[in-house]
Amino acid sequence: MADTVIRNATIIDGTGAPRFGGDVSIEDGYISEIGDISTSSTALEVDGTDLVLAPGFVDVHTHDDGALLQHPDMTFKVSQGCTSVVVGNCGFSAIPAVAGQSTLDLSGVEAGWSDLDGYRSAVEGSNPAVNAMMLVGHNTVRTLEMKGERRAPNDDELSRMREHVELAMQQGACGFSTGLIYRPGRWSDTDEVLDLTKAVAPFGGIYATHMRNENDHLLEAVDEALYIGAEAGVAVQISHHKAAGKRNWGKVTESLAKIDAAVASGAQVTLDVYPYTAGSGPMVQYFDINNPDPELAQAIQLASCPAFRHYEGRMLTDIASELGITAPEAVQHVLTAPDGKQTICIQHIMDEGDVVTNLRHDRVMVGSDGIPDLTGRPHPRLFGTFPRVLGRYVREQAVIDLESAVRRMTSLSCDVHGLQDRGRVAVGNWADLVLFDPLTVLDIASYEDPKRESVGVNNVWVNGQMAFDNGHHTRAGAGRVLHYRQH
Ligand code: ZN
Ligand code: CU
Repeated sequence: MADTVIRNATIIDGTGAPRFGGDVSIEDGYISEIGDISTSSTALEVDGTDLVLAPGFVDVHTHDDGALLQHPDMTFKVSQGCTSVVVGNCGFSAIPAVAGQSTLDLSGVEAGWSDLDGYRSAVEGSNPAVNAMMLVGHNTVRTLEMKGERRAPNDDELSRMREHVELAMQQGACGFSTGLIYRPGRWSDTDEVLDLTKAVAPFGGIYATHMRNENDHLLEAVDEALYIGAEAGVAVQISHHKAAGKRNWGKVTESLAKIDAAVASGAQVTLDVYPYTAGSGPMVQYFDINNPDPELAQAIQLASCPAFRHYEGRMLTDIASELGITAPEAVQHVLTAPDGKQTICIQHIMDEGDVVTNLRHDRVMVGSDGIPDLTGRPHPRLFGTFPRVLGRYVREQAVIDLESAVRRMTSLSCDVHGLQDRGRVAVGNWADLVLFDPLTVLDIASYEDPKRESVGVNNVWVNGQMAFDNGHHTRAGAGRVLHYRQH
């Protein structure tokens, strides 16, 4: 007997196929029937009239490694219709770790584990609302073995780094991530990254990269990523594809063309994008503290600033003029304060046209890159990414159709990241589902007021359990840390 039947919904199955009307039933965590379901003996009936039923959205680019433990309700993701998150992006992952020490991801939670198996039991013990898939991060393994050394690894160091990557893959990670713009990743050369990427090839894993450059040298950085994928024989996922800095706006067209050409000659390459014209990350990573870039300083807004909480949400230029100093001096003022290095900033550096170009591309999936530091004013992408694509870019601007948008939030995301038996409304798949109103779904979170849940998402099921019910978080806690697909 089915536990739940959703009736009279408009079903968008995640494959990109046209919508159709019908009922969907859930039994023991799985989708058990699709069509005209006559049984009446179900525990729960949900009316889907005028609503879209789709596979739960997969946030392929997150930094939720620590949040799954700190905020297991994951309200900021569930309320967007997300049922799974890929963690360990940009080269920063919660594994490997030294038990009892801070993790080397962006959360810095205290690790009660050393590897993915340990992380999995810790996270599942906290009953997270959503599923997670792990990438093992280059910055993390490099810091563990080499601290902040600005040199190539010796053979021993490289082989220990490789062992960390292999162990993560054995324990179910989906691939290896880099953040080559950040320390210590930026001190690595292409050969080091290639060597470690080769370690995921026997597992069919992916190489997910925050590339070495996303502004003046974007195209060269794409070349490096494609080279690593080709030489290692693995699929490449280009993270948060963008062209930063006004003089580079429009360049995403060229980098997409480069990727299309590589795909035409046999490479496997996909990308992700967040639907905003500002980025966000640890401020200390973007500036030379002795000589802060004045152009970038102009574009900075503070998200979390433990040293000066009253600066959160404000533009740095505004703070500078209040203090009677220049913007680069304000960078130094913030970063040199006690705890200043914990500052998370927002950089307003991208072009709206490039966001649209990315969203139109068939191989681009949606990923928030949200940083779940809820103490400050996080970039609104943390709460708004998926409804923003559906509300603004699909409904209001008709940049892409709804079926295509859903495909690139679901089946494409699951296929690339190895979330097996998910991402499609199909009998026998896990019942990760979202029921939303296509006429009202919209992000509410803004730069000024970023911790606002979106509207128009009615119900969310994770592994067959209802996680979200018309604005109410049920705390069902049905999420799992997934194992990468077995070949
Ligand atoms: Zn990144
Ligand atoms: Cu990231």
